[in-house]
Amino acid sequence: MAEPSSGHTRTAGYEADPAEVRRVLLLYSGGLDTSVMLKWIQDSYGAEVACLTVNLGQPGEDYAAIEDKAKRLGAVECHVVDARERFGRDFLVPAIKANALYGGGYPLFTALGRPLIAELAVERARRSGYDTIAHGCTGKGNDQVRIEATVATLAPELRTIAPVRSWQMGREEELAYAREHGIPVKGGTEVAPYSIDDNLWGRSSEGRWIEDLEHPPEDDVFQLVTRPEEAPDEAEVVTVEFEAGVPVGLNGERRGLVDLLERAAEIGSRHGVGIVDQIEDRIVGLKVRDIYEAPAAAIVLTAHQELERLVGTIHQNQLKPGLDQKWGYLVYAGLWWEPLRADLDAYMDAANAQVTGTIGLKLYKGGVRVVTRSSPNAVYDADLASFAESNELFSQAASPGFIELWSLQSRMAYRIRQRGEEGG
Ligand code: ARG
Repeated sequence: MAEPSSGHTRTAGYEADPAEVRRVLLLYSGGLDTSVMLKWIQDSYGAEVACLTVNLGQPGEDYAAIEDKAKRLGAVECHVVDARERFGRDFLVPAIKANALYGGGYPLFTALGRPLIAELAVERARRSGYDTIAHGCTGKGNDQVRIEATVATLAPELRTIAPVRSWQMGREEELAYAREHGIPVKGGTEVAPYSIDDNLWGRSSEGRWIEDLEHPPEDDVFQLVTRPEEAPDEAEVVTVEFEAGVPVGLNGERRGLVDLLERAAEIGSRHGVGIVDQIEDRIVGLKVRDIYEAPAAAIVLTAHQELERLVGTIHQNQLKPGLDQKWGYLVYAGLWWEPLRADLDAYMDAANAQVTGTIGLKLYKGGVRVVTRSSPNAVYDADLASFAESNELFSQAASPGFIELWSLQSRMAYRIRQRGEEGG
């Protein structure tokens, strides 16, 4: 058999040996890169290629068209899996309980989606006897780490190939290859499109002018969220109800998670909420600028965090953000399967057992502000907080004694330092 012209030599044990690639499962989006890959793998490896396309709630995606395109480009089969429920239950719920954000503003939708996509690929490959999983990530980003770490962890017997990382095609060459092989290219070919990734939990754009840090966002990048300056002049209050940390209702109506998040995204989008323009430290050394649109996350995470603080004690509330940050970093960094994440989840579940109640948020021209809170578990007593007469839990008469001991060490140290200054 002819050696593939990828010019690639294996570095890691999980990478495919070209001579042994027979049946490939390609993670297929229907875009230019993965469509070129679909042909290119057949040609250069002489391998059979099947496609897997995962629905994680990408708005407006036409899955029938993707399946059709895959078949026309020679895929032996194309599986489209609706994994929205599983994504919500197994990935977004833990993320909500951990108030998961990376770099202060990115709700991790891509980082949460990749391990599930790779896990589904592993399941499919095992069931249908594929030996190799192919994906379209480049060598510069985080997604290659998330996908390959997942495959290598869950299925040591499987191999991966990442043609975009190893072939030396630029965009022009890819377009030429596409033309030559009858691969339809949607849209104009003059301007490279933004690099988009999206699902139920948000949407990211990279590339083009976004790489120029001095360039303010151009209007056309916002395809999900209304630009705040164009949002309605009337504010809207939305309420989110939680049970044990899981969102279960919106505006007083009980909803399943997927439905609730889709609805929250719609309301948030209308009011321009969830836009983040962020410079991020990638796992792979480089920094990157992303434009995020995450309206559902802006609503649900803001509400969750508020409710959690209301039901937590000062000690719990001081500890949790550090654990949240650790959780978010592990997930960002492609280590979804790391046991520490499961250990942290056990704490998140324990803390969230109390997170039941309803938060009201006011949405207005890009802003989300908490306006109402209620919970049966609130560590808050309106009588205690007021200057009412003392009751059995708290006597105001005891306060001076508390203050004397509370400030004791600070007062002693202050005095000693002063004496030192006077003596010197
Ligand atoms: N910077 C984000 C992350 O690393 C978003 C990546 C989006 N991925 C993409 N292929 N466009 O999770």
